[in-house]
Amino acid sequence: MKYKNKKLVIESVSVQKIAQKFSTPAYCYSYKKLKENILNFKKNFESLSPIICFAVKSNTNINLIKEIKKFGLGADVVSIGEMMKALKAGINPKKIVFSGVGKTSDEIKYAINKNILLINAESESEIKEIEKIARTKNKKVQIGIRLNPNTDAKTLNQISTGKKENKFGVNEKIFFRLVNFCKTSKNIELKCLSVHIGSQIVSHKPYEKMLNVITKILKKVNHKFEYIDLGGGMGISYENNEKKLNYKKYSLAIKKFLKNHQAKIIFEPGRSIIGNTGILISKVIYIKQNETKDFIILDTGMNDLMRPALYGAKHKILPIVKTKTKSKKIYEFVGPICESTDKFKSIKNFQKLNEKDFVVICDVGAYGMSLSSNYNVRPYPIEILVKGSKIQIIKKRQKYKDII
Ligand code: LLP
Repeated sequence: MKYKNKKLVIESVSVQKIAQKFSTPAYCYSYKKLKENILNFKKNFESLSPIICFAVKSNTNINLIKEIKKFGLGADVVSIGEMMKALKAGINPKKIVFSGVGKTSDEIKYAINKNILLINAESESEIKEIEKIARTKNKKVQIGIRLNPNTDAKTLNQISTGKKENKFGVNEKIFFRLVNFCKTSKNIELKCLSVHIGSQIVSHKPYEKMLNVITKILKKVNHKFEYIDLGGGMGISYENNEKKLNYKKYSLAIKKFLKNHQAKIIFEPGRSIIGNTGILISKVIYIKQNETKDFIILDTGMNDLMRPALYGAKHKILPIVKTKTKSKKIYEFVGPICESTDKFKSIKNFQKLNEKDFVVICDVGAYGMSLSSNYNVRPYPIEILVKGSKIQIIKKRQKYKDII
C-alpha cells in the first residue's frame, strides 16, 4: 500500500475506487503482500524444513486459506468449524494440527475420522477422552501434549499463554505423567511436544527461554518426540518503525536446540502471515466537536475490528487522499457502537478531515474479520482481495435479511 499522486493505492488499485464501488466498511487484502510474507517466512526458516501450519483463527476467510494452501502450508485449527474450513479449502489432513483447551468428544471424533496429523492435547482429561474414543474406533491416534513452559512471552497480558497462571497446556510434572500414560496405551501414539507462549512476540529472547525449558524436559523424559510444535506468536510491526520479531535470530536459536534433539519442527503462524496484508476502509459519518478534541465518527466499529476495544491495540489510521492541511484539534477515531470502548485511536496533527471522507485502518488482516460480530445488529463487512489490478470479492457483505 502506498500513496500515488497523493492517493492511496493497494497494489495497483485505488482505495477510493474500492470504497466508492463496494461501499464501506470493507476489508481489503493484498495478495502480493500475502505471498511476500509466506515466502519470507519460508526463506528465513528454510534450513529447518519445518511444517508450517497457518493459524486459521487469525483469518478464517476460505478464499484466503485456499491461497495460503497453494504455497504448501497446512493449518492449525482450534474447533471443528475451523477444521471443516481448512479441509474444504483443500488442506491435506496430514498437515492439520488441532489445538485448544476444550475439544469436545464430537470434535475429537471428527479429527480422528479425518486422520489429521496431530491432536495437541492440553489436559489429562482430554488425553483420556482421546484414548477412549480411539479405543472404541479401534484406531491408533497421533497426538501431541502441550506443555506450559511457564515462560513470559513479554507481550500483552491478554495474549500471553505460556505462564503457569494461564489455562493453556500442562506443567512439567503432569507432562511426565501423561507421557507415561501414553506409553501404556495401544491407541495413542505420542508424537509431539507442543508449546505456544503467546502472540505478538517481538523479541526472540522469550522463545530462547522456552527452548531452554523444552531442552531440560527432553533430557529428563524417556521418550523420542518426532515433532516439536513451537506454535506461532511471531510479532509484526503495527506502528512506524515498531520492533518486529527477527526471524533469523529465532531460527538460529532453534537450530542450536535441534543439535541435541532431532525432531521435525512445526510452526503455527497466524499474524505474521496475514496481519499486514489487510486494511479496513471506512467512511467518516460525522465529525462531532468536543472542548478538547473532535470525534471522528466512522461507519466501522468494534463489531468489525475488536482489537482496540479488547486489548487496547493500536492500528495506524490513514487518509485515502493526502492533503497538506492539519487539524488543530486532536482527532479521536470512534465507531458507531453504543460502548465507550468503541474507540480506535486518538491522533494529534492528523490532516483535516471532512464528513464523508474515507480513511483506512491498517494491518487488520489478523484477528480483524475473524473476531468480528453482529453486535448492534450490524452486518459483517464485505471482504475483497486485490491481485495486481484485479479485484475479487472473497466474501459478500452480509445482508440484513440474514440477520433480522
Ligand atoms: N497456535 C496457537 C495454539 C494459538 O493459540 C495461536 C493464537 C496461534 C498459534 C497463532 O498465533 P499468532 O502467530 O497469530 O500470534 N486475538 C489476539 C491474538 C490471540 C491469539 C490466540 N492464539 C489479537 O488480536 O492480538
